[in-house]
Amino acid sequence: MNNAISSFCDWLENTPISVVIQSVSWIIPLVQSIHIMAVTVIVGSVLAVDMKLLGVVGRGSPISGATRRFLPWIWMALVVLLLTGATLTAAEPRRELLNWVFRLKMVLIVLVCAVTGAFQITVSRNASAWGNTPSYRWQARLLAIGTLGIWIGIIFCGRWIGYVEHQ
Ligand code: HEM
Repeated sequence: MNNAISSFCDWLENTPISVVIQSVSWIIPLVQSIHIMAVTVIVGSVLAVDMKLLGVVGRGSPISGATRRFLPWIWMALVVLLLTGATLTAAEPRRELLNWVFRLKMVLIVLVCAVTGAFQITVSRNASAWGNTPSYRWQARLLAIGTLGIWIGIIFCGRWIGYVEHQ
C-alpha cells in the first residue's frame, strides 16, 4: 500500500504544477495563510452552532435559525480548505500522504462532514423540535460536544503533521 502511495508521490512531485508551487517562493505562504483564514471561519461558525446546541446562547430561538445562518459558512470554508490543502499536498506529497497524522486528519474531516450533513438534513426535517424539546435536548448536547471534539482533533492534527517523521 505504502509503495503504491510512494510511487504516486514520486509522480506528483515531478508534475509541472507541483514544480511551480515548489519553486515560486510566495505561493506556499499565501496558500497557508488562506488555509488558516478558512480555519478561523470554521471555528467561528462551529462555535456559533455548538453554543446554540449546548443552550449557552439563544435559548428561546429555534436551532434552524443558527443552522441556516452558519452551516453555509462551514461548507464554503471547507471547500477553500480542500483546495488550499490539496495545493499544499501537491507541493510536498511525501510529507503529507506518507504521514499518519495527515491520514488521521483526513478521516476526521470525512467523519465531521458526514455528521454535519446528517445533522443539517435532520434539522431541516424537524426544525421546530430540534434542541427545544427535552427528548432532543440531550441529543443536541451530545452532538455539540462530539463535533467540537472532532474539530479540535482536526486542527491539532493540521499543526502536528510537521512534527511527525513521514515514512
Ligand atoms: C479538506 C481538506 C484539507 C486538506 C487536504 C488539508 C491539508 C493540509 C496540509 C497539507 C497542511 C500542511 C501541513 C504541514 O505540512 O505542516 C495543513 C495544515 C493545517 N490545516 Fe489543513 N487541510 C484540510 C482541511 C483542514 C481543516 C478542515 C482544518 C481545520 C478546521 C485544517 C486545519 C489545519 C491547520 C491548523 C494546519 C496547520 C497550519 C500551520 O501550521 O501553518 N485543515 N492542512
